[in-house]
Amino acid sequence: MKPINLAGHELEHPVMIGAGTCKTVSDLEQALRTPASAVVIGSITRDSRTGNSGDVYHDGGHFSLNSLGLPNPGLEYWRINLRYYVEGYDGKNPDRKPILASVVGFNPEEYGMMTRLLVMQKASGIEINLGCPNLWGEEGQKPIPSFRPDMVRAILTSVGSEIGFDHCIGVKLSPFSDPDQLKVVARTIADFVDLIKFVTVSNTFPNAYATHLDGTRCISFEGSSGLAGMAGRAMKPVALGQIQQLRSILPAPIQLIGVGGISSGQDVLDYLRAGATAVQVVTDYLNRRKASMDEILIEYVQLTEQPEPQAPA
Ligand SMILES: Cc1cc2nc3c(=O)[nH]c(=O)nc-3n(C[C@H](O)[C@H](O)[C@H](O)COP(=O)(O)O)c2cc1C
Repeated sequence: MKPINLAGHELEHPVMIGAGTCKTVSDLEQALRTPASAVVIGSITRDSRTGNSGDVYHDGGHFSLNSLGLPNPGLEYWRINLRYYVEGYDGKNPDRKPILASVVGFNPEEYGMMTRLLVMQKASGIEINLGCPNLWGEEGQKPIPSFRPDMVRAILTSVGSEIGFDHCIGVKLSPFSDPDQLKVVARTIADFVDLIKFVTVSNTFPNAYATHLDGTRCISFEGSSGLAGMAGRAMKPVALGQIQQLRSILPAPIQLIGVGGISSGQDVLDYLRAGATAVQVVTDYLNRRKASMDEILIEYVQLTEQPEPQAPA
């Protein structure tokens, strides 16, 4: 397979496992046993979170809904464990695959502090998650930074003040339905071209809603309105459109990672053709685990390494 270069890391191929799948070291070990070329852990928050409990994930076949509420063991857990995996001690990570960490802060300073600590623990890269729609407080839904250029600027300023420019730092965005808003946020990110090496698109589509045949909500837990982030196959054209638009706005050195509805080798190829350097798989990996990565890669290799037709003798 042809290796790719993602922000200074050589990846064996472009197919990674995306954020939301690896919350603990046992999840990470499982992901490292697949043929994925790199893994994103998290999203990690400063403090551990239990997340929501009840019907928090729904597989609707052509889409998935989730409102997990960012369950994760917190920054300290990964501060202790991450380095062992990145550096491959005790046979952990035998292929020395890059391990990126996805971070969510509740203010710009927290994003900066977490990024610095995880870089110090040798994270291969940091994905700054600006797009989680599933955080609700007493005052309602928390703002989604992706849609607030002022918040994006404040977060990236904070991250930039904590670390130098020679790290693999990227941002993950929500999908924009307003092309002008996408342009404003892309130009804000472009102002940080020395810091930001990649943009991952896209996170789940916020505030989707679905019911079972009997009218009951697919996403249901105490305090929930049934709204949730949508992902899965239905997201592919949306995310491909984001890639296409962002590629034409962002400076060339900022690479794009496509995520949304990937479950086949053809999907991977479609994202690369739209302008992505690499891709991530989430819903399909959650549903099928190693078989997902095996099958996607077998098909991707078949599609990309077909022998050239021989000229007739
Ligand atoms: C169950 C679940 C949990 C997720 N958790 C996170 C997360 O913690 N951080 C994040 O950046 N994205 C998270 N996502 C979003 C995915 O990383 C991805 O952007 C989105 O699901 C689209 O990809 P897919 O269609 O392959 O699922 C989650 C998605 C799902 C389905």
